[in-house]
Amino acid sequence: MSVLKSPLTKNLRIALIQLKAGADKAANLNSVKNHIEKAISTSTVGPLDVVMLPECFNSPYAVDQFRRYSESIPGGETTEFLSSLAKKHSVYIVGGSIPELADDKVYNTSLTFDPNGEIIAKHRKTHLFDIDIKNGITFKESDSLSAGDKATVFKLGDFGNVGLGICYDIRFPELASVTARAPHNSFAMFYPGAFNTTTGPLHWHLLARSRAVDNEMFVILCSPARDVGGDGYQAYGHSLVVDPYGKIVAEAGEGEEVLFAELDHTLLPAVRQGIPVHYQRRFDVYGDYVGEGKVKVSDK
Ligand SMILES: *[C@@H]1O[C@H](CO)[C@@H](O)[C@H](O)[C@H]1NC(C)=O
Ligand SMILES: *[C@@H]1O[C@H](CO)[C@@H](O)[C@H](O)[C@H]1NC(C)=O
Repeated sequence: MSVLKSPLTKNLRIALIQLKAGADKAANLNSVKNHIEKAISTSTVGPLDVVMLPECFNSPYAVDQFRRYSESIPGGETTEFLSSLAKKHSVYIVGGSIPELADDKVYNTSLTFDPNGEIIAKHRKTHLFDIDIKNGITFKESDSLSAGDKATVFKLGDFGNVGLGICYDIRFPELASVTARAPHNSFAMFYPGAFNTTTGPLHWHLLARSRAVDNEMFVILCSPARDVGGDGYQAYGHSLVVDPYGKIVAEAGEGEEVLFAELDHTLLPAVRQGIPVHYQRRFDVYGDYVGEGKVKVSDK
């Protein structure tokens, strides 16, 4: 068998910042700055290429707060702030998610910055979480948020392409698959996410490992820290890095923490050669839901 080319060209060193956000936006941003500085100065994997933030790092995690904390992109306070940090430390920043205000609509949006501080990707959460359980909980994101209508894939410098989704997006295998397959060939999916203490233990690891195994790619999840003893949303924590074999290579606990990992670029071709699902799909039998042309890719 010929030697397969890896969609990840060289090892990628990442830090996941699992932090807790409160009601004070300035304090939240200051905490982001301190954690990024700490990640840079205490890295256990060498000089960092990517720093990733969790979902909802600049605001409390509550549906009725989205509009109040929302900002325009570009130009908003958080966007400018992350841009300057990326530039200062010369790293890529995968900027968790923030509420974005555009044409009077609020989106759940994730930005990625390159080491020059330029926005290189913008993903608007595609699947909104609406539930209404009789005698149970009701949670309707669509009351306060609008959904994005594109998959997001972007070029992470000369490392290769990556895909990005937000939280609930991880439950939809199709979104990860479009980014993993030609012509995009992403080596990883990044998901800022905030599962709770019921769905976390039940599905967090399972979904991350499933998307990794389905597509033989890396899957990276960054959660807010648990608000233990607080009255805010209780996020599961457990930020996670899964390799293309489905193996967990790094996992955080529940509190505030910086998690480091190095993604080994030799793994992708090795996995795909050993278990060639990537090349042996039988679309003549079950059809192909991905197909070029059906996918709208975000152009930020
Ligand atoms: C994004 O969506 C999640 C639900 O999946 C929500 O709880 C969260 O607060 C939203 N974040 C922002 C920044 O709007
Ligand atoms: C977490 O979310 C699930 C699904 O929406 C819900 O059924 C459950 O009650 C929630 N758990 C907690 C602890 O809030």
